[in-house]
Amino acid sequence: MKHTLQMLVMLAALAFFSCTGHKDLPAADYHIVPLPHSIQTEKGAPFILHSSTQIGYPTGNEKLRQTAGLLADYIQKATGIQVSVTEGTTGSGKISLILEKTPGDSPEGYLLKIDHENITLKAGSEAGIFYGIQTLRKSLPEENEGKIRLPAATIKDEPRFTYRGMHLDVGRHFFTTDFIKEYIDLIALHNLNVFHWHLTDDQGWRIEIKKYPRLTGIGSKRKESLLNDGSGRSDGKPYGGFYTQEEVRDIIEYASQRHVTVIPEIDLPGHITAALAAYPELGCTGGPYEVATTYGVHKDVLCIGNAESLEFARNVLSEIIDLFPSPYIHVGGDECPRDRWETCPKCQRLIREMHWKDSDGHKAEDRLQSYFMNEITKFVQDKGRKVIGWDEVVDEGLSPDVTVMAWRGTDKGVKAAEAGHDVIMTPAGITYFSDRKLNELGGDRGVRRVYGFKVVPDSLSPDAARHIKGIQACLWTEGITTREQAERLILPRLAAVSELGWADPGQHDFEAFMERLYRLIPLYDKSHYPYSRHVFQITEKYRADTTKGKLEVSLSTIGDRPVYYTLDGSQPTTKSLRYTQPFSIDRSCRLKAAVITDKDTSVVFEEQINVNKATFKPSRLADAPHPDYTFDGVTTLTDGMYGNTNYNTGRWLGFLKDMDLTIDLKTPTPVSTVSVRVNVSKGAAVMDATGLEVQCSDDGKNFRKLASESYRILNKQDKDGIYTHRLSFPETRTRFIRVIAKVTPKLPAWHTWPGDPAFLFVDEVSVE
Ligand code: ACM
Ligand code: ZN
Repeated sequence: MKHTLQMLVMLAALAFFSCTGHKDLPAADYHIVPLPHSIQTEKGAPFILHSSTQIGYPTGNEKLRQTAGLLADYIQKATGIQVSVTEGTTGSGKISLILEKTPGDSPEGYLLKIDHENITLKAGSEAGIFYGIQTLRKSLPEENEGKIRLPAATIKDEPRFTYRGMHLDVGRHFFTTDFIKEYIDLIALHNLNVFHWHLTDDQGWRIEIKKYPRLTGIGSKRKESLLNDGSGRSDGKPYGGFYTQEEVRDIIEYASQRHVTVIPEIDLPGHITAALAAYPELGCTGGPYEVATTYGVHKDVLCIGNAESLEFARNVLSEIIDLFPSPYIHVGGDECPRDRWETCPKCQRLIREMHWKDSDGHKAEDRLQSYFMNEITKFVQDKGRKVIGWDEVVDEGLSPDVTVMAWRGTDKGVKAAEAGHDVIMTPAGITYFSDRKLNELGGDRGVRRVYGFKVVPDSLSPDAARHIKGIQACLWTEGITTREQAERLILPRLAAVSELGWADPGQHDFEAFMERLYRLIPLYDKSHYPYSRHVFQITEKYRADTTKGKLEVSLSTIGDRPVYYTLDGSQPTTKSLRYTQPFSIDRSCRLKAAVITDKDTSVVFEEQINVNKATFKPSRLADAPHPDYTFDGVTTLTDGMYGNTNYNTGRWLGFLKDMDLTIDLKTPTPVSTVSVRVNVSKGAAVMDATGLEVQCSDDGKNFRKLASESYRILNKQDKDGIYTHRLSFPETRTRFIRVIAKVTPKLPAWHTWPGDPAFLFVDEVSVE
């Protein structure tokens, strides 16, 4: 009997040890987005997370009790494992949250130690603890069997910037408080710490102000909205919405639990039509005004000559300051046209009284803007808060205490930082996520474009560089009405902002980032966050090799998944060529490629390669293209690939001087036709060629004219798009062929900028 019992105990012990042979358990990976500053793997057994794991918080610390609860929720959502939360941080088998100063300077930093017994998360502040739990949650594997192995490690981490923001425009379209909370969840998931809430605009005033009830009573409603189909038509349906102060408090509390500061923006003195509709006496003409139903920059702005306008702004900001604990208050300041001020008696009287004159490149009316901005800056600062404004606020100079949000370009940020302002970088061309075209760049291009952004430009002096406080992405909602649209535009590009804002720039590495992003995406899936699937498409890269006369093609995709391709125009399947390394193309073909897994097939990527006598041949340009439109340089003109109507994709070279291209056909070759493809976008000063000339030469020095042709300058009515000019001549044998495409020397009288130089965009020169 005793013997049998011993046997049983032994068997049970064996079974126990085989179950705890933890090597096979799915493991956490601490290489997450954003990459922690240091991850040191340690010797020793891993910590095993399972349903008996406890999260301990310091006795009596209510905030960390909530944080522990959040971590338990995160773990449950990510893994299905339900861990418990307990008071006290001693004992083993625990994830302990401990408030204790750690090495490093940032109040948001943390130290995470994982060993067999415990996970200890230490930070000098609750925010640091919060970022430690974000790291833990993002490190968890996608699959598990009720247990997860967390390899022994020490992680030291802190953010690069103190300001890491995401903006949302609720003026153009209103979003529910549930959505706002989810948006804050997304902000927190990406280690960002600011939600910039753009609460007012021409198309709607969205926050309750007790002193001015008509702001929401009238200003939050518009009679109709533009349809989102580019037709310029409206839907004819009333639209509206606003947040009560009660709802705002609830949002602020929700954000605070996630260490997100909500910065309110009241856009002044422009973008204010909705307020003028409610209080027309605040506009220069006195109205009547209606809440805007079209987008763009509206001319009706606050009348600065009317003292009531300043009073109004102060009263509104006073309620805003009482409501929002944020150290920063955003006062807008962007896109304020001077048209009304120029003809308003009140504004003109103020200009006279103040003796403002046109000077230093500024109009007297510009002083109205800086005067107003100065006054409200003083008001906000007297209440102990800091002012942020869009970069226009410093156009005429403003107190260096004002923080500048550089949106019109990084150069605006550079200028402001050099003048001593703190700066938040949010250049429209990179971080305005509302731009659908930038989101829909195929493959990894959309994310790459953001990731490649230099938040601190090299040109800054070290002193000025210290003024760059961080980065922000913005979502303007003219064309966005739903949660799906909004989230699909910001994800996964927000991950790139996360990394730029948090991780050490010395460790930025796009390929490694994409691997980490690939592991983050299941978390989006589990949370049902819509995201752009463009990253799952193929990213193609080409290199025209003019020595070998071939095009080298490389194909990649996120997550190292299998890529198949064909060269005969057929649909790729798993029976097609499997891509393993770059390959070459030297004849016309239609390349198709797709990522094919057992789960799904990606969008099929397609490219037509057109090979003619000039393709992949060495060539040179007499004059370089414009530096902004040089891209991969001269080989672009004979790489066998055409561009689409967007002249900014890298397929088109842009010239302000005639394109003068000499192609070396390498051996005397019979030729009789030259074609040149030109992209026309008249509004952008991108015009057609005005002439074409072809010359030949045997030595590349002495040329003889073969043919030429002139084209008239485009009229206003001529279509935009791609024009192909073909010039034929009697067959000639030649080694060198020179093709000159003439620019439009001056924009014609009908153009917005008559007399200015015009661009000529060419994507391909063909010789047959
Ligand atoms: C802005 O985009 N008008 C700040
Ligand atoms: Zn006025």
